[in-house]
Amino acid sequence: MTYDIQSMAVIGVGIMGSGIAQIAAQSGHTTYLYDTKEGAALQAKEKLAATFQKLVDKNKISAEQAENANKHLIVAAQLEDLKACDLIVEAIIERLDIKQALMQQLEEIVSDTTILASNTSSLSITAIAANCKKPQRVVGFHFFNPVPLMKVVEVIQGLKTDPRIVDALNELSRAFGHRPVVAKDTPGFIINHAGRAYGTEALKILNENVCDISEIDRILRDGVGFRMGPFELMDLTGLDVSHPVMESIYHQYYEEARYKPNPLTKQMLEAKQLGRKVNQGFYHYETGTKTGEKPAQFVERLTDYPKVWIAADFAEDKQQLEDYLIQQNIVLDTGLEPLPESLCLLACYGEDTTQAATRLKVNPQQAVGIDMLYGISKHRTLMPSLATNTEYRQVAHSMFNLDGAMVSMIAESIGFVAQRVLAMVINLGCDIAQQNIASVDDINAAVRLGLGYPFGPIEWGDHIGSQKILLILNRISTLTYDPRYRPSPWLQRRVALNLPLTFNSGF
Ligand SMILES: NC(=O)c1ccc[n+]([C@@H]2O[C@H](COP(=O)([O-])OP(=O)(O)OC[C@H]3O[C@@H](n4cnc5c(N)ncnc54)[C@H](O)[C@@H]3O)[C@@H](O)[C@H]2O)c1
Repeated sequence: MTYDIQSMAVIGVGIMGSGIAQIAAQSGHTTYLYDTKEGAALQAKEKLAATFQKLVDKNKISAEQAENANKHLIVAAQLEDLKACDLIVEAIIERLDIKQALMQQLEEIVSDTTILASNTSSLSITAIAANCKKPQRVVGFHFFNPVPLMKVVEVIQGLKTDPRIVDALNELSRAFGHRPVVAKDTPGFIINHAGRAYGTEALKILNENVCDISEIDRILRDGVGFRMGPFELMDLTGLDVSHPVMESIYHQYYEEARYKPNPLTKQMLEAKQLGRKVNQGFYHYETGTKTGEKPAQFVERLTDYPKVWIAADFAEDKQQLEDYLIQQNIVLDTGLEPLPESLCLLACYGEDTTQAATRLKVNPQQAVGIDMLYGISKHRTLMPSLATNTEYRQVAHSMFNLDGAMVSMIAESIGFVAQRVLAMVINLGCDIAQQNIASVDDINAAVRLGLGYPFGPIEWGDHIGSQKILLILNRISTLTYDPRYRPSPWLQRRVALNLPLTFNSGF
């Protein structure tokens, strides 16, 4: 049999349920609204009518489309009213026992072919289906807030879910104007799983006192191109939401080091320093505006610059640095070994400047590391060694500010800020592919649309150069012994065979 979804119901018409009902009604699906809270379903219908009217006023939809959408919303007084629906989506309270009981209750009412979907963000679909007579009809249908604007939905296949139901929800999602991504029933599915790297690695960098939150945010936002820095993002989401997700995924994966949360966010949660919603998180907020961000560091222009000797792991990085320095009329020291007075610029990956200087047999007093992972066009990150002379530190800072670009000066970190965060994001994406939780295309699309990253994690690895990502992870693993950084076999094999990270033979 095939599943043809014409009529549906949403149970629990709070933030998520209302959003799902909106896109369902707008795409011409008869949608019943049900909620245990007295009057909530009617209220949701009225609120949606006001939303449709606003869309008409803004010329987003026609008056006729609004009228049609309104007609497709029906308030249900009792669960029995939903008996003829082809699909029921629950968006009720996030409690396993209550969701399980609802599914069992629904099975007594609906036909054998009705699909029962859950919008859960953290519970297992297999567990929600566990007490059902027909667990194969239970599926995950995970939307994101705000539903009409977040154009991605995870279709989650429980251990027993009928694959034809997955196909039917994929088709329905497209009719809603959403991009379906299919995920195995695993903790965090795709998006909440792939999103673990960004915040946790930034917190670890903060913990190691590499630089302050403003600098980390600046590097990742202005340098790498994330829409928001990790601390700005945690403030927006609220630690009451994001800290429990970090803990839950970490524990559900049996204390896997890659997902390890940080004591700092737990403490901030206890102190109710949740973020924007209480005007105090990592930053302070006044009438909704962020305050307390430390400004970028500026530096005086110097009249004299020493010669610059460059060592780089990758030839293209050396070339880019030479081009920039020549443009700024800085003389290069092209000797095999640096002159005693030259500034030694080390474009290194996955190590700190002390390690790089030691490996390259360069005097650490003359050495400054530079992160070339994201190029030097918009923003630069410099890392002096513990022993770098103050004069060389200032010279390097000034030199890279000569064209007005912003420079972040950070303390020593095994791998720079951007290198560590991006390597973790990409490696995690590779691991999700390796575990066959979803296809490469779906992982990339899910992350772009669900997390708003400029690239999906796997395509990002190819864009940057997968051998660079592997080098970062290998070096950090060797230097820290931390299993968090171990490279995914997906990444290792593709680099060894010189294949794109997006390559999948299907085996
Ligand atoms: N808020 C989000 O950003 C978000 C994102 C993705 C998924 N989710 C998931 O969606 C679900 C709903 O979240 P929300 O934020 O919309 O919650 P909400 O509190 O805004 O709405 C829940 C609604 O469900 C109703 N309800 C509770 N128990 C019920 C029951 N047994 N039967 C019928 N109605 C019941 C409540 O009266 C309320 O109207 C949860 O499973 C949550 O994990 C939430």
